[in-house]
Amino acid sequence: MSKKLTVAVVGATGAVGREMLKTLHDRQFPATEVRAFASARSAGSKVPFGDTELTVQELKEDVFEGIDIAIFSAGGGTSETFAPHAAHAGCVVVDNSSQWRMDERCPLVVPEVNPDALADHNGIIANPNCSTIQMLVALKPIHDAVGIKRVVVSTYQAVSGTGQKGLEELERQTRDLFSLRDPECKVYPYRIAFNVLPHIDVFLDNDYTKEEMKMTNETVKIFNDPSVKVTATCVRVPVFSGHAESVNVETVKKMTAKECRILLSQAPGLKVIDNPREKLYPMPAYIAGDDETYVGRIREDESIENGLNMWIVADNVRKGAALNAVQIAEELLRRDLVRVKDRNVFMA
Ligand code: A2P
Repeated sequence: MSKKLTVAVVGATGAVGREMLKTLHDRQFPATEVRAFASARSAGSKVPFGDTELTVQELKEDVFEGIDIAIFSAGGGTSETFAPHAAHAGCVVVDNSSQWRMDERCPLVVPEVNPDALADHNGIIANPNCSTIQMLVALKPIHDAVGIKRVVVSTYQAVSGTGQKGLEELERQTRDLFSLRDPECKVYPYRIAFNVLPHIDVFLDNDYTKEEMKMTNETVKIFNDPSVKVTATCVRVPVFSGHAESVNVETVKKMTAKECRILLSQAPGLKVIDNPREKLYPMPAYIAGDDETYVGRIREDESIENGLNMWIVADNVRKGAALNAVQIAEELLRRDLVRVKDRNVFMA
């Protein structure tokens, strides 16, 4: 890449934004310049980038001129307001919020699953929900091989999914409880320390949470297959890092557990750790910082004709957010798609 390439991270002071900077550096993303943006509150502060530091600049509508790719993780409201200005300035946005995911103008991409969807982008590309990403990295090879009819998933999601404030809440409440103080609930409606909450994001009219419906709707969009039915229960657990998922899959054709293990161990982005006799299975505490999505506990569901059970674990801040976004940026470069065809698509 001889051309100058300027990359921005929007939300650079947050838990995911920091991981995005780390991921860009770790993978030696070929940027000639990296800029860090956050709110006015953080302007002038420093964030680490490899061995150096970047000075955080205040995000404003007119900052995107001359920036080729901006990776956003600053909440839906910030993306709603600023991503159209970025695209209008010719800057390609990879957005980690849920703001643009179901917008027909925006591809929703997991690079191991549907990279071809990038071809027709209009300047804003959406990064899927963390729980959806890891589930689909594991389910894509199965869907291709035998067809997936229905998925029943229960998640065990870490507090880092709520950002820096989620991490602080679990730490503070744990200290409070050990010090015989009443834990203060600032972020979650109930105590998260030594508890589990069957409630992530807001409740909708159908009594599912928004997080649960993201898994249902995003799967259909990413697989580009409305025949795949997903029903989810999303649960917040007192774990700092790493989401786990218990996934039941009903397939069109039969796949044995052994066939599934072999298939998944050869698939991109996946690692199978599955040896019950040796007590080997993936766990959030042991995979923090890893790029791979881990699968274990693969079993045939003996209650139906064609079914599999499995346990899927990934670092939600890494593959579930920062890494997936950086992989999208890498794919854009590889496919020579770092350009905005029509700068007015999102300005109407
Ligand atoms: P700031 O630190 O200045 O508030 P997290 O999800 O870990 O809480 O991080 C959220 C990120 O989004 C932070 O970097 C935060 O910056 C940034 N952010 C929040 N609101 C805005 C905004 N209006 N403009 C720019 N960045 C924002």
